[in-house]
Amino acid sequence: MSQDSNGTLPDSIILPRHIAIVMDGNGRWAKRQGKPRHAGHRAGAENLRNIVKYCGDIGIEVLTVFAFSSENWRRPKTEVALLMELFMDALKQESERLRKNNVRLRIIGDRSAFSARLQRQMGETEAITAASTGMLLQVAANYGGRWDLAQAVRRLAERVKTGELAPGDIDEAAIAAELSFADRPDPDLFIRTGGEQRLSNFVLWQSAYSELYFTDAYWPDFNEAALDQALRHYAGRQRRFGMTGEQVVAERKENTPC
Ligand code: FPP
Repeated sequence: MSQDSNGTLPDSIILPRHIAIVMDGNGRWAKRQGKPRHAGHRAGAENLRNIVKYCGDIGIEVLTVFAFSSENWRRPKTEVALLMELFMDALKQESERLRKNNVRLRIIGDRSAFSARLQRQMGETEAITAASTGMLLQVAANYGGRWDLAQAVRRLAERVKTGELAPGDIDEAAIAAELSFADRPDPDLFIRTGGEQRLSNFVLWQSAYSELYFTDAYWPDFNEAALDQALRHYAGRQRRFGMTGEQVVAERKENTPC
């Protein structure tokens, strides 16, 4: 780890390079407290701030969070409007803090559906944090895994049309290279809070080998200690990438310096 965690993680623990999170349960968190749904989203945004700081401190390279899916437009108009307001406020308020914490922000997804004002703010926050060399925070907004694949395939088709590429050149690497965060490692650990056990069209291609971690905790309650628990769980998993357990152990021995 690059820095001390809150003390509950052993220094030698193997951490994921990239964590992807579906931040679910804001609405139920609010309901449990007798508050309106938007209070849950506000508490969720505050929690995200803490988790971003913590992930940066312990040396996570990339954190990708699902803030608004392609399907979330189907929510009541008032909730969508409140979420847009929340994104706007968070982007404005957090730009400087992210920069100070050396975190770089990148929005992934089809941002053309957002208001011109919000799109401008997204660009501004990305620009303010562009020189950060620490963790990359990817906020998925109007994002869907299928959308990501569709836009990648569309770009490849355009290259075939111009003759730059032959259909036979389209292999896994060519598709992966056109996806939203082709320049970063795939998520090692995929976390979903809020009790559901599904991917909900998040990073579909990129999560092919992610370790999955589901917890009943609602997102606003998923604090640093809860993340430590997920990280401990991750460290205990054997990632085989299609090999046998014995092969993985042999390979690890080969790569361990004497
Ligand atoms: C899912 O909970 C959460 C969302 C659709 C929105 C996530 C947004 C935030 C955490 C706000 C902060 C984000 C940024 C980038 C400022 P839900 O509403 O589906 O909860 P429920 O399943 O309990 O109803």
